[in-house]
Amino acid sequence: MKVLVTGGAGFIGHNAAIYLKNQGYDTFALDNLKRATGFAVERLSMHHVPLVKGDILSLKALRNVLDSVDVVVHAAAYISVEESIKKPALYFRNNVAGTANIANACLRRGVKLIYISSAAVYGTPVHLPINESHPANPISPYGLAKLMGEEAVKFYARQGLKYAILRLFNVYGPGQSSAYAGVITRFIERLSVNKPPIIYGDGQQTRDFIHVYDVAEAIKLTMENNVENETLNIAAGTPVTINELAEHVTKLAGLSLKPVFAKPRPGDIKHSHADTSKARRLLGFTPKISLEQGLKMLLKSGEKRRVQG
Ligand SMILES: NC(=O)c1ccc[n+]([C@@H]2O[C@H](COP(=O)([O-])OP(=O)(O)OC[C@H]3O[C@@H](n4cnc5c(N)ncnc54)[C@H](O)[C@@H]3O)[C@@H](O)[C@H]2O)c1
Repeated sequence: MKVLVTGGAGFIGHNAAIYLKNQGYDTFALDNLKRATGFAVERLSMHHVPLVKGDILSLKALRNVLDSVDVVVHAAAYISVEESIKKPALYFRNNVAGTANIANACLRRGVKLIYISSAAVYGTPVHLPINESHPANPISPYGLAKLMGEEAVKFYARQGLKYAILRLFNVYGPGQSSAYAGVITRFIERLSVNKPPIIYGDGQQTRDFIHVYDVAEAIKLTMENNVENETLNIAAGTPVTINELAEHVTKLAGLSLKPVFAKPRPGDIKHSHADTSKARRLLGFTPKISLEQGLKMLLKSGEKRRVQG
């Protein structure tokens, strides 16, 4: 089976592409390289995953790459909530028009589409845990653009496109870019230079973290279980507060620094906790990497890079 991963030189894309390649899928990556990391490009090459330079906004680029592809894993997007508040049009153009382009191209070629969406589509939770039928009321242009991407996918599905939508919660793991990094990467970067983690708000907010290798496994299971026209939450299903996270990661790093508190950031929700029963039921998916294991792996690989570099 031939698989194309868009955004394949980004954090989630390259980890998914390498994982799928190692599982025996004929996998290649597409990325315009505007926000790719050298780390991801190097790892793709180490694992012999071909990388094609191309933009999802260009129909011509898509026409050229979709030949004999069976599944597209669509992970290309801009991903910063903060940036999306400052530059909403950039997000609507890239993330919505880009997704509509992919969905349209997949429909025309009879290719199945796995759209990587986000928990940001839900906005402020009205109940916890959040299941897939929770209302979608995004509170940032990023979240709205991800939701509009879902609608574009469903629009083409009404014409025959086969799809699955995976709503990822907070993903962490190797190769997250510093510029748009999630909280775990930012904490570890600060701790690696002996600086305390910065917490935005009071730290009582909760997040539901999942390791990127588990996300890659969920994508593989989505392909293998022939999940058709379904929307699934992908998360650990175990929320932790940011205060707990800061304490945990600081301790694992062998430091005794107190976190620094800063003003809450606009567009950040208070609580996030996924109901993951649908993914368990339809995919048989349960994450294998605990937060403790994942943090230890990240701290260890950071240590190794510092020693080598
Ligand atoms: N990181 C998370 O915690 C998280 C959580 C939920 C959902 N997601 C979703 O997962 C996907 C991947 O996120 P990530 O964290 O890997 O981000 P990332 O920024 O590391 O990777 C995105 C990649 O997409 C590429 N890209 C962007 N626009 C493109 C375009 N027009 N044409 C071709 N390539 C383009 C970038 O160059 C980059 O390499 C996104 O769709 C995001 O919304 C991420």
